[in-house]
Amino acid sequence: MLGKRTKLFFVISLGAVIFSVILATWGFPKIISNQIQKNVQLDNSSAMFEKWRKMPMPLTFKVYVFNVTNAEDINAGARPTLQEIGPYVYKEYRERTVLSYGDNDTVKYMLKKTFVFDKEATGALSEDDDIVVINFSYMAAILTVQDMMPSLAGVVNGALEQFFTNLKDPFLRVKVKDLFFDGLYVNCNGNHSALGLVCGKLKTDAPPTMRPAEDGSGFYFSMFSHMNRTETGPYEMVRGRENIKELGHIVSYKGKTSMSNRWGRDEYCGRLNGSDGSIFPPIDPSDVPDKLYTFEPEVCRSLYASLVGKSSIFNMTAYYYEISRDALAAKSANPNNKCFCKKNWSANHDGCLLMGVLNLMPCQDAPAIASLPHFYLGSEELLEYFDGGVSPDKEKHNTFLYLEPVTGVVLKGFRRLQFNIELRNIPTVPQLANVPTGLFPLLWIEEGAVLPDSVLDELRESHTLLSYVNAVRWILVAISVAALMCSAVAVARSGILPAWPRNSNSVSFILSPHPNSDINKVH
Ligand SMILES: *[C@@H]1O[C@H](CO)[C@@H](O)[C@H](O)[C@H]1NC(C)=O
Ligand SMILES: *[C@@H]1O[C@H](CO)[C@@H](O)[C@H](O)[C@H]1NC(C)=O
Ligand SMILES: *[C@@H]1O[C@H](CO)[C@@H](O)[C@H](O)[C@H]1NC(C)=O
Ligand SMILES: *[C@@H]1O[C@H](CO)[C@@H](O)[C@H](O)[C@H]1NC(C)=O
Ligand SMILES: *[C@@H]1O[C@H](CO)[C@@H](O)[C@H](O)[C@H]1NC(C)=O
Ligand SMILES: *[C@@H]1O[C@H](CO)[C@@H](O)[C@H](O)[C@H]1NC(C)=O
Ligand SMILES: *[C@@H]1O[C@H](CO)[C@@H](O)[C@H](O)[C@H]1NC(C)=O
Ligand SMILES: *[C@@H]1O[C@H](CO)[C@@H](O)[C@H](O)[C@H]1NC(C)=O
Ligand SMILES: *[C@@H]1O[C@H](CO)[C@@H](O)[C@H](O)[C@H]1NC(C)=O
Repeated sequence: MLGKRTKLFFVISLGAVIFSVILATWGFPKIISNQIQKNVQLDNSSAMFEKWRKMPMPLTFKVYVFNVTNAEDINAGARPTLQEIGPYVYKEYRERTVLSYGDNDTVKYMLKKTFVFDKEATGALSEDDDIVVINFSYMAAILTVQDMMPSLAGVVNGALEQFFTNLKDPFLRVKVKDLFFDGLYVNCNGNHSALGLVCGKLKTDAPPTMRPAEDGSGFYFSMFSHMNRTETGPYEMVRGRENIKELGHIVSYKGKTSMSNRWGRDEYCGRLNGSDGSIFPPIDPSDVPDKLYTFEPEVCRSLYASLVGKSSIFNMTAYYYEISRDALAAKSANPNNKCFCKKNWSANHDGCLLMGVLNLMPCQDAPAIASLPHFYLGSEELLEYFDGGVSPDKEKHNTFLYLEPVTGVVLKGFRRLQFNIELRNIPTVPQLANVPTGLFPLLWIEEGAVLPDSVLDELRESHTLLSYVNAVRWILVAISVAALMCSAVAVARSGILPAWPRNSNSVSFILSPHPNSDINKVH
C-alpha cells in the first residue's frame, strides 16, 4: 500500500520535473514573448498603440543658427567667421491619423507635427533676435538658374533684384521667427523673363520651404513652417502582428514603395529601409542587429545607426547605436553611396560631393546640402573654408539612440541635421563677384526625446514583473526537482527498487564491485 503510494509519488514528481523543465526552457519564454508582442504590436488592443498614435509627451526640437559676424569682409573675399546661436527650443507634438489597415499586416497613417515655442527652455534668447545668415532663398534661386543656364546668371541677377528688393549682398538680416516659421516675402511680381523662369520653376517644383503667398504672385520662404500642422504621408507601416521582427518597418511613403525616382532609379539609394525612428522591434539578445535603419522623408533616403554596444541608462540595460562614418561617406569610402552623388563639388570630386554631406536637390528641389552639425564626420576640407565658429564635437553633434531590448522602445535618442547651401563666386553677379566659394551652413536642428519618468517607471515595473516570472519558472523547476529527490529517497527506503544500492547493508558493500571507493564512504 505504502509502496504503491511512494511509487506514484515518484512517477508524478518525475513528470513534474519534465513538465517544469519544458515550461522553463520553452513554455515561459514563449508565453513572455507572446505577451510582449501583444503589448508592442500596432493593434488597438495593445499598450503601445495609443502612445504610438499620439505621443504622450512632446519631442524637443532645437534650432541653432549660424550668425555671420563678418558679412562685409566676406563680401570683400574674406573667409567667413560664424557664431553659433541657440538653442531656440520648440516642443514638437506628434499625432498620427490612422487611414486604414492593409492586407499585409500594415497600417496606413498620416503624421502631423505641431511646434510650439518653448520660452522657458530657450532662456535668454528670443524669437525676435536679429541675426545675419546666408540668404538661402537668394542663393537657391541663383544657383538653380546658374545650373540650368550658366550664361544667364548675370541677366538673372537683374531679375533677382526685382525679385528680392534691396539686394546688396548674399546675406539676410532677419528675425529668428521669420526665418524659422513666419516666412519672408519673395516677390514674383515683375515682367522680366528670367524672373518668370525662377518663379515658374518655384511654382512647378513647389519646394516645401516656399509657401505660396495669399496674393497669388509671391512666396513666403521659411525653413520649418511646412512642417508645422501640415500632415505628411501617407506612411504605410508594418504592425508586427504576424512577424514581430518587422514591427515598425515603413513599406511605403506617399504611395511609393521606393524613392528610386529621386536617386537616378537606383535600388540601393531609393530603398525604404527601416522604421520612422519612433518604434523598433524588440531585440533578441542572441541576434542583436548591428545596424538600425530608419527612413527619413526629409532627405528622401534611409540612414542607419550602428551598434556600439550594451549600455546602461536610467538603471536599465539598453543597446546604444550611433550614426557611423560610412552612412554619409563619399563614394570612395562606401561605393554603395554612389547613387547619392548628384552634384559636382568644386568640379574635382568625380561627380560626387565630399564625405559627410548629402545633396538635397533631388529630394527637396532646392540646392540645399545636408550634413551633420558642424560637418561632424565630414571631410576636413569643409572646415578650411571658415575662419572660426565651426568645430565638430562628437558629444554635441552626434546622432544616437538608446534602445530598450525587451520592448524596442527608444529610451533616449537625438537626431541632428544641418542645412547648408553653396556660396558661389559668380563674377557676373555683383553681389557674388568677390565672395569665396564654399559650403555655407545656415542652421542645424536637433530632434530628440528622453522618455519621461512615468513611462520609464512603467517599463521598470514590467521589467520587475518579468524578473519575477523568470524567477518563478526556475523556482518551479527547483521545487519539482526537490520533490523528485524526496520521492526517490522514499522509493529507495521502501525497497521497491532492489537495484538501489543500500550502504546500510554490509553484504552489498562487501559484494560491491568497487569496495575501496565504498569503504571511504562508510566510516
Ligand atoms: C480596433 O480595430 C479594429 C480593426 O482592426 C476595429 O474593428 C475595432 O472597432 C477597433 N476597436 C476600437 C476600440 O477602436
Ligand atoms: C548676429 O551678428 C550680428 C553681427 O553680424 C550682431 O549684430 C547680432 O547681434 C548677432 N545676433 C545675435 C542674436 O547675437
Ligand atoms: C502583400 O505582399 C505581397 C508579397 O509580398 C505582394 O505581392 C502584395 O502586393 C502585397 N499586398 C498589398 C496590399 O500590399
Ligand atoms: C504652428 O501652428 C500652430 C497652429 O497653426 C500655431 O499655433 C503655432 O504657433 C505654430 N508654431 C510656430 C512655431 O509658429
Ligand atoms: C534675401 O532674400 C530675401 C528673400 O528671401 C529678400 O527679401 C531680401 O531682400 C534678401 N536680403 C538681402 C539683404 O539681400
Ligand atoms: C512690366 O512691363 C511694362 C511694359 O512692358 C511696364 O510698364 C511695367 O512697369 C513693367 N512692370 C514691372 C513691375 O517692371
Ligand atoms: C537596406 O537594408 C538592407 C538590409 O536590410 C541593406 O543591405 C541595404 O544596404 C540597405 N540600404 C540602404 C540604402 O540603406
Ligand atoms: C539607479 O539606482 C540607484 C540605486 O538603486 C539609485 O540610487 C539611482 O537614483 C538610480 N538612478 C536612476 C536614474 O533611477
Ligand atoms: C562632374 O564633373 C565632371 C568633370 O568636371 C563631369 O565629367 C561629370 O559628368 C560631372 N558629373 C555630374 C553629375 O554633373
